[in-house]
Order: sequence, then structure tokens, then C-alpha cells
Amino acid sequence: MTTKEQNVRDQVSKDYAAAVTRPSPDSCCGTVEDRRKGVAVKSAGYTPEELASLPDDAVVNAFGCGNPTAFTGVTEGDVVLDLGSGAGIDVLLAARKVGPTGRAIGIDMTDEMLAKANENIAASGLTNAEVRKGIIEDLPVADSSVDWVISNCVINLSPEKDKVFAEIARVLKPGGQMLVSDIVVEDLPQWARENSQLYSSCVAGAISEEQYIQGLNDAGLEEVEVIDRVIYESNQLEAFINSELKGDSSENASSCCGTSFNGSGITPDMAKTIATEMSGKVWSAVFRARKS
Ligand SMILES: C[S@@+](CC[C@H](N)C(=O)[O-])C[C@H]1O[C@@H](n2cnc3c(N)ncnc32)[C@H](O)[C@@H]1O
Repeated sequence: MTTKEQNVRDQVSKDYAAAVTRPSPDSCCGTVEDRRKGVAVKSAGYTPEELASLPDDAVVNAFGCGNPTAFTGVTEGDVVLDLGSGAGIDVLLAARKVGPTGRAIGIDMTDEMLAKANENIAASGLTNAEVRKGIIEDLPVADSSVDWVISNCVINLSPEKDKVFAEIARVLKPGGQMLVSDIVVEDLPQWARENSQLYSSCVAGAISEEQYIQGLNDAGLEEVEVIDRVIYESNQLEAFINSELKGDSSENASSCCGTSFNGSGITPDMAKTIATEMSGKVWSAVFRARKS
């Protein structure tokens, strides 16, 4: 790992630590109910029943761009691994699906996210869910040990995506499957690529669908395909950029729901301009693959 890659990872972790330790939702950014609705709209995939089954903190601290478990044939007794599990929303949903004979394991590198996920697991009462500290480029998980790898809006943040794809292939059992929701981009303007402010917002580090598929194939996975897409209109993209990391508590940011987020200085006006320029070039895709 180069110093540059380590710096990218450190910045992403710092930004998500700030996002998850922002003021409580009732004192900022509207009511919990508003934020629940926001998550449902943004992720275009969680059902009201799924959201209602989760602790408030798991929902309001969701930073995904899809609902990967909605597409799985996850059944009782399966082992599900969630890469970049954040505050635990998909770990909890997976744990419910696999039941007491199965297990849902989340991996995240950010201590503050792991703490929040542990609180949410405790609040849910589920005993078959856990989170582990680690990086998705070097998973703290045994070879050929999981039935499903899921991930929600995380791999775009990795500076070493080929290592992540190789790790997915390593930890899946033969016949196991991967279902990943992630942001992909096409013809992203060079200025956006080079804009570090857009990296932690899940845009600047994203690759194309073609590169994603190539990376998964190169890792030895099979039946690689895109099974769903949500192409953002400019107003949806603006809302997405604004919602990722909103309410930063770093010293550079203004209080909450205010004039900037993630300490990067992106204001709502800037988000609008960026979204207009990048409309149609950024979308959320669900990738499926199988290990033979
Ligand atoms: C956009 S949030 C998504 C969180 C969660 N999947 C969800 O849907 O709410 C990205 C999460 O991935 C974690 N993350 C980013 N890059 C990572 C890496 N290389 N290794 C481990 N965790 C990572 C961050 O700490 C953060 O919790």
C-alpha cells in the first residue's frame, strides 16, 4: 500500500467518523421520521417494513445507495458478510433473514461506525450479528467461509479495488455469491475526478460498470452481471451528495445541516452545480457474481 492510498483511506475514515458522531437527529436535520423517509427515498430499495424493523440509529446513520439484501436469495442458516458495514443497517437486515442458525458479519475500518453498529446490534436484540474491525482490502475473515458477500456504497471508496475483488473471491465458499450496490460513473469530468471533496461523497473514486465487471472477472468470479440500476436525475444526485456525510462535526464544518459537510467545504449550492454537471454520468448499480 502506498502512502497516497493510506492517506485516502485515512481521510475517508475521518469523514465517516465525523458523519456518524454528528448531533443527534432530533436536534438536527429534522425528525427521525423525516430522516427515515430520506433514507427510504435515497436508497430506493428498503421497504417501509424493513425500515420499521430497525433501531432508529441504524436507519438515520445509513449511508448506502441501495438495498443489496433485497436481491439475494439469502436463506436461514447462511453466513452473510457485509463489506463496509457502517452503522449496521444491512448487517441487521441480513441477520433477520438468516435466522438464529445463520450469521451476519460486518467489516468496517472506522471505530466510530463500529461503536454505532454495536449499539444498534444490542438495541435490535439479535444475537447472530457482529461487526469486526478491518479493511476490505485485507478482510479479517477465513478463506471460503461465507455464503454471501454484500456491500452498500463502499467499494467506490477503496483506493485498491482489485484487492477488494480478490478478497471477495477468497472468502466466498464455492458456490457462494456476491451482491453489491455501489456508485458507478461514466465520463466523469476530469475536474470531478481530481476533486478530493467528492471522494468521500462516493463519487470521485467510483469506476465504470465495465471496469467493475472486469475487476470481478479478473478476481476469478463468474456469472458477473449488473442486475439493477438507479440512474440519478440531477435533483436526486444533489440530494445524494448532500446526504452523504451531511452534518460534519469537524472543526471546519458549520454546525449541522448547514453550509458545508464532511469538512470539505462543499456547500448545498456547490452540490447543486456539481449535480447538474454530472447528471446522467453517476448512478447506483447492483452487481452480482458467483464463485465457482
Ligand atoms: C458510504 S458508508 C456506507 C455504510 C453502510 N454500508 C451503509 O449502507 O450505511 C461507507 C462505510 O465504509 C467504511 N469504509 C470505507 N472504506 C473502507 C475500507 N477500505 N475498509 C473498511 N471500511 C471502509 C467507512 O468507514 C464507512 O462506514
